[in-house]
Amino acid sequence: MFDLKSYLLDKRQQIDAALDRILETAPWPGARIVAAMRYALMSGGKRLRPVLCLAACETVGGNAEQALPVACALEMIHTYSLIHDDLPAMDDDCLRRGRPTCHIAFDDATAILAGDALLTLAFETLSSKEIRKKVPSECWLDIISVISVASGYKGMVEGQMRDMLAEQQESLLLPELEELHLLKTGALIEASVCSGAMLGQGSFEQIASLKVYSKNIGLAFQVADDILNVEGDPLIMGKEAGTDRHRCKSTYPSLLGLSESKEAASRLIAHAIESLAQFDHRADPLRVIAAYIINRNR
Ligand code: IPE
Ligand code: IPE
Ligand code: MG
Ligand code: MG
Repeated sequence: MFDLKSYLLDKRQQIDAALDRILETAPWPGARIVAAMRYALMSGGKRLRPVLCLAACETVGGNAEQALPVACALEMIHTYSLIHDDLPAMDDDCLRRGRPTCHIAFDDATAILAGDALLTLAFETLSSKEIRKKVPSECWLDIISVISVASGYKGMVEGQMRDMLAEQQESLLLPELEELHLLKTGALIEASVCSGAMLGQGSFEQIASLKVYSKNIGLAFQVADDILNVEGDPLIMGKEAGTDRHRCKSTYPSLLGLSESKEAASRLIAHAIESLAQFDHRADPLRVIAAYIINRNR
């Protein structure tokens, strides 16, 4: 029987060790910027995006170890997005991953720069010799392209822009909110799954199915985040609850109510699992992670 708990523990340990190794190559390890990068990155995140990358690689028969640098790059991009998301000019949050947010622990300028540095370190990692030795050049260039498109103004950044603009609006319509969530959160999750499958040399059909999987879990992940913001326990989540309402965000619960939001999330997860029909037991981690995405309490 597949055991998600030990799977996540094992993968998170590998990811944390690889991230640590990358940070250790800093030319000035005592520098303030490195301290801020390390503070935000090595602080007990769930590591969902890198785990998805490794799991997708294994699903198509690839070797997850090869995918580790890509997995690390995805976590760096995600962490940068959280540092900036928490800034006073954005969501103005004080608590993240159970600790004061980066700009509270350091200061706004350092937090902005730590985000910038993690984003660029991600692409340094993606183009490193280590990856180039292991993966055919055409494949890693395609991966860099997929990840950069998903992270930038065609993906996450546009989603964050719409999230900010929506604070000034009455309320979004559901299709508008769905698109916003697919951009701000779904795009990087989709890129995590697809880059892992590309590294594992998945076929066109396999990658197409995994795209459907990742779109559905990506949206469900943000719906679950919206639900946790209403009824989650800040001590378990490591971040404040009730902030979406306070900032007048359009969210699934604000548009649909809690119980309809939960039903919508369950439907998305059912679709995600259906889309894995062509895969054997090697897709079990992805199947179980899909369910975890809406059952999690942090
Ligand atoms: C939080 O992401 C921000 C969203 C995109 C909803 P996670 O819930 O994956 O945060 P960490 O990485 O575990 O802290
Ligand atoms: C975060 O969304 C999305 C990104 C950082 C791209 P939220 O603002 O809804 O997430 P939390 O609740 O602060 O983690
Ligand atoms: Mg936000
Ligand atoms: Mg936020």
